[in-house]
Amino acid sequence: MPLIKAFAQASTSPLSLTLLLASRCLAAVEGGRSLTEALGKVPSANRSAVQAVTLYAMRHWGRARAWRAMTLKKPTGQPWVDSLIALSLLLLDVAVAPESSSTDAPRYTPHTLVTQAVDAAREGRAKPVLPGLLNAILRRFQREHRQFLDNIKTDPVARWGYPLWWQKQLQADYPHDWQSILAVSCFAPRLVLRVNTRLTDVAEVLHEFSEAGVTAVHLGESAIAVTQTGSVDQLPGYTEGWWSVQDLGAQRAATLLAPKSGERVLDACAAPGGKTAHLLELAPITLTALDQDPDRLIRVGDTLSRLRLVHSGVTLKAVDARNLEQWWDGKPFDAILADLPCTASGVVRRHPDIAWLRRVADLPKTVTQQAKILDALWQTLAPGGRLLMVTCSVFLQEGEQQAVNFLSRHPDARRLPAPGHLLPKASLGDEPGQDGFFYGLFERAVL
Ligand SMILES: C[S@@+](CC[C@H](N)C(=O)[O-])C[C@H]1O[C@@H](n2cnc3c(N)ncnc32)[C@H](O)[C@@H]1O
Repeated sequence: MPLIKAFAQASTSPLSLTLLLASRCLAAVEGGRSLTEALGKVPSANRSAVQAVTLYAMRHWGRARAWRAMTLKKPTGQPWVDSLIALSLLLLDVAVAPESSSTDAPRYTPHTLVTQAVDAAREGRAKPVLPGLLNAILRRFQREHRQFLDNIKTDPVARWGYPLWWQKQLQADYPHDWQSILAVSCFAPRLVLRVNTRLTDVAEVLHEFSEAGVTAVHLGESAIAVTQTGSVDQLPGYTEGWWSVQDLGAQRAATLLAPKSGERVLDACAAPGGKTAHLLELAPITLTALDQDPDRLIRVGDTLSRLRLVHSGVTLKAVDARNLEQWWDGKPFDAILADLPCTASGVVRRHPDIAWLRRVADLPKTVTQQAKILDALWQTLAPGGRLLMVTCSVFLQEGEQQAVNFLSRHPDARRLPAPGHLLPKASLGDEPGQDGFFYGLFERAVL
């Protein structure tokens, strides 16, 4: 049933409605759709409550699935009810033992949670036996909580909240750091902004935020961390284009490519345009931005308009970067940003659903796709020019190994200093945290 319809039919009880809508979103993710897409279908009045619950659920989905498997012998035939069971078990765990739950955990009393979850099942028109079944499952979980906790102690999927293949890949890539890399997704990221230095500066933005009672701290260069209290577009300077939301790790890209005044720059995988805008903020350049997804490319145009960065030297093209004959005029670029499509394994703290959406077969597919894009782009780079390879992945195949293989295919490529794999860090205390990225910088030899 579409979410809108579910909303219209649901009662006015906020928690049962939140649980119902959240369960439908989680069922969409279990069916292969992204959480962002599913949340986009939730009525805006309910979205932030549903988002909070579903993000928490996705961060701890390993446990939720394990407990569901212990209580439900076979699927109910209504995927959203299966998701409601898993979600309710997870939230009941918090309700029963709030002291051992993370600070972002949604907190209800056990009684409220059980009755509202059962109401959600009824309001969503679960099959007649299912509200009673859910009630029985939750009562048993509450009675036998200690046992349920003990039963998942040796289950790595429940312990770490990632599919097993993902964990094995990280163990192989990072024999020492894999546990800390996995742990970051349990913590919600802090809001980090990049100040648009074409229009303003860090001091002015901090002043405006302070006047508005918003707590913000400077993190270095153009980055500030904000203690968020509501929707970002309500913060001072959003409409004026004074800043963009951009993770600290992502802010390294444009500064590493370091565009210079008058250069011809290519942003080959540009959408939604965060790094495109940053390149334009750093220097007056001629810029071509490509993306193969026309809908996503529209967002690049919107971003540049809001940030007042559109000028006659900016060209946007909805094309596949590999098909040079479709878009390249034969004039070489001085600098290329190749922010490649990848598994996005470095941004799971922002998008915890990614770990559950990806399949083991996705990794070799993206690796092949990345190599093809890099090889095509290399032909468009001027001798003496530089290409920055970026992925938001922690897997070595999508980073260091890809870079090494690229160098072996291109004898005219020389590696320049760049951070390589930036490992993700959790936002804890004063530590702003960052997503995981790979940065490899190459220069084309002048022959
Ligand atoms: C990691 S995202 C880019 C993020 C963007 N640079 C930013 O900072 O906002 C990768 C983008 O590459 C695009 N893409 C994937 N394959 C492509 C191809 N062959 N040619 C052009 N764009 C491609 C995807 O549509 C996606 O928007």
